[in-house]
Amino acid sequence: MRILVIGNGGREAALAWKLFQSEGLERLFCAPGNPGTSSIAENVPLDPCDIDGLLTFAKEQEIDLAIVGPEKPLSMGMVDRFRERDLAVFGPTRDCARLETSKIFAKGFMNRHGIPTARHASARYYLQALAELESFELPLVIKADGLAAGKGVFIADRQEEAHRILKDLLIDDSLKEAGSSVVIEEYLSGRELSVFVLSDGKRMVELAEARDFKKAFDGDLGPNTGGMGAISPVPDYTDRLREEFRDKILLPTVEGLAREGLTYTGLLYFGLINTPVGLKVLEFNCRFGDPETQAILPRIDFDLARVLYDCARGQLKEERLRLKQECAVTVVACSKGYPGRYVTGCEVSGLTEGDCTLFQAGTGYSGEKVVTTGGRVLAVTALERDFGEAVRKAYGALEKIRFKGMTFRKDIGVEFDVN
Ligand code: AMP
Ligand code: GLY
Repeated sequence: MRILVIGNGGREAALAWKLFQSEGLERLFCAPGNPGTSSIAENVPLDPCDIDGLLTFAKEQEIDLAIVGPEKPLSMGMVDRFRERDLAVFGPTRDCARLETSKIFAKGFMNRHGIPTARHASARYYLQALAELESFELPLVIKADGLAAGKGVFIADRQEEAHRILKDLLIDDSLKEAGSSVVIEEYLSGRELSVFVLSDGKRMVELAEARDFKKAFDGDLGPNTGGMGAISPVPDYTDRLREEFRDKILLPTVEGLAREGLTYTGLLYFGLINTPVGLKVLEFNCRFGDPETQAILPRIDFDLARVLYDCARGQLKEERLRLKQECAVTVVACSKGYPGRYVTGCEVSGLTEGDCTLFQAGTGYSGEKVVTTGGRVLAVTALERDFGEAVRKAYGALEKIRFKGMTFRKDIGVEFDVN
């Protein structure tokens, strides 16, 4: 099989790493990939949003399966365009991707199909939004409707703060088109978890769960980031919760998609919160999560290329989806200052894996050297028989890696170390 992975982050590095182990793999391309993927795949200098360029490349190279990593090309209809040209592609169409690209659509979908989620209101105009605020207690949550690269969710503890956030979004256009409408919703408390579900357009099958550590600092403090680490499995995702997820969330989602005439193929990511009154959906993502993918893929015990190809072709076979019963701990190393301002261009040294798997993300080449190019620079994943061992191995591996301003959370998975 000739496979093209579209994207250049840690998630795509993990996809490429797992696909590289697939038996039927003939050639693997990453567009554009990063220095980490260049050792297992052929990096192609094409932008992930350059649909025409990628289509031409896929046709010329007779690609059997294209896998779209990030949400932006999905929102631009990349999957629709590939399908029109008879190319097998893993990912949802633009219509289906609205579950991620429009929070208003996602909330409406959940309400129409009885999927538990936070109570909400939506608004397009500032005064309308202020009027809606009255029916919510503090704290409350304000979300930009569109894609905002993780910067579109705000929690307001005071009325004045809510007013300021709404003014920024709806009057001052701080997030441009993405924030031109907003969702206001009730604040929920509980532990979060992400469940990855594979879909071939007919069936949806749970793949695995993970927990993403979104806050910048230890103890879940500081600003929200794209994710500072992940663990999989999630020990507090009990059999009872799994059942609740299947009955109350997954099943109505499958039925809702069918009723709305949406044929979903690809990965559907359920961002869940376990509240005192049960599981609720915080968000849908229409793609693999980052860094959850770096924790989940090392656990899978099947041929990923085969399964993603089956999904793209409407032939997913549930019995193939076996997982290793080991524990994965993924720790992300960032540039100092992330998610705020940070410097790039710092040389990265000590890029050896040891007992772990190393996934580069915000890296690039400067001549022969690997240098930082982004906030989340790389991740290491340890897969061990218990969380204690995995935590020790992952942090041991990070000790050997160096770049100026390297920072990481010290507590990923630590609470599940029972030794
Ligand atoms: P979202 O992009 O909707 O998942 O939001 C990003 C993060 O904001 C979530 O992972 C939560 O930590 C937080 N969040 C979103 N919605 C709520 C809510 N209704 N109550 C509490 N926290 C929320
Ligand atoms: N880790 C959260 C996301 O991928 O959206």
